[in-house]
Amino acid sequence: MPETTMIPHSRPFLDDEDYRNVLDVLKSGRLVQGERVAAFEEAFCLEMDLPGAVAVSSGTAALHLVLLALGVGAGDEVIVPSYVCTALWHAVRYTGATPVLADIEADTFNISVPDIMPRLTNKTKAIIMPHMFGQSGDMDALLNLDIPVIEDCAQSMGSHYRGQPTGTFGVAAIFSFYATKVIAAGEGGMVVSRDGHLIDRIRDMRDYDEKETLTQCFNYKLTDMQAAMGTSQLKKLPVFIARRQEVARRYDCVLREANLPLPVSKPDRGHGYFRYVFLIDSMDRFINDMGRLGVVCRRPVFRPLHDYLEQTGFEVTNRVWQRAVSVPIYPGLTDEEEETIVSSMKTLLFKV
Ligand SMILES: Cc1ncc(COP(=O)(O)O)c(C=O)c1O
Repeated sequence: MPETTMIPHSRPFLDDEDYRNVLDVLKSGRLVQGERVAAFEEAFCLEMDLPGAVAVSSGTAALHLVLLALGVGAGDEVIVPSYVCTALWHAVRYTGATPVLADIEADTFNISVPDIMPRLTNKTKAIIMPHMFGQSGDMDALLNLDIPVIEDCAQSMGSHYRGQPTGTFGVAAIFSFYATKVIAAGEGGMVVSRDGHLIDRIRDMRDYDEKETLTQCFNYKLTDMQAAMGTSQLKKLPVFIARRQEVARRYDCVLREANLPLPVSKPDRGHGYFRYVFLIDSMDRFINDMGRLGVVCRRPVFRPLHDYLEQTGFEVTNRVWQRAVSVPIYPGLTDEEEETIVSSMKTLLFKV
């Protein structure tokens, strides 16, 4: 089937308000970080009910600056899950610190707190907790470890833990506005925190221009074009999440009828379904067969970090990685596309 007629694995949802907002910036001639970035940060603070937010150029840049602002550097260790994209490993390496990998929970695919515990040393400076696929990790258990937790909400914008938004628990949280994330700006990121000093340091480091000293700074700025789009996307967040949850319920029905385990959605977590991920023994075949039926499915994590680093152990990560599949779920899916996905899943799964 030609690529263009396939239902893509992800697609941003853009409407007239997004187009208008970006066009207004273009017409203003002021493209760089300015009023629109400030307005986006303010809207984000309101959304999260937090006092401080700094917009930056990507989720990876956001992680880098949070780590630096926490004083993480060479000789330090930062705990990250193995089952995650490589952005986390790179961000820790930028600081000169060593990423220490931990295994994940079999049910939520989030970093496992019991597996973190034996890996803690006196060099552990922080734990990065990505709320994978839109479901919060076990924040209570994690915060009990008494190590600074950076929540990675790149996939969990609009998700909740015990009724409170993810991103409001740790010492700081980061978000990504990459084109296929929950809200999109093409590229972009945000740091939020209750700690005003941390926010000030990050705000200072994102920009190098007109400083009194040569203290290390970066060009990690967001543009007003991206911020204009981020702001109008943010307004649609509740609708986006409701639509994702609605599609997830349809897929749940298919898996239930096929006697396959559903993605675990814990009662104390508001799952935002950034990804709809389930486990199936014949994962590769399922992805190929769905492709033949016109639906692009993917492995939700390209390759676990321990595999790149040739580290052993990480049994849960291995088991999940070998079987996890992600089917398209996003607010821009048309009803017709949703029907095609559901009927394709039925065709393949009912005969397994
Ligand atoms: C969990 C997680 N953290 C961080 C990132 C990095 O975000 P960005 O692509 O905006 O740098 C991603 C991107 O896919 C991600 O999935």
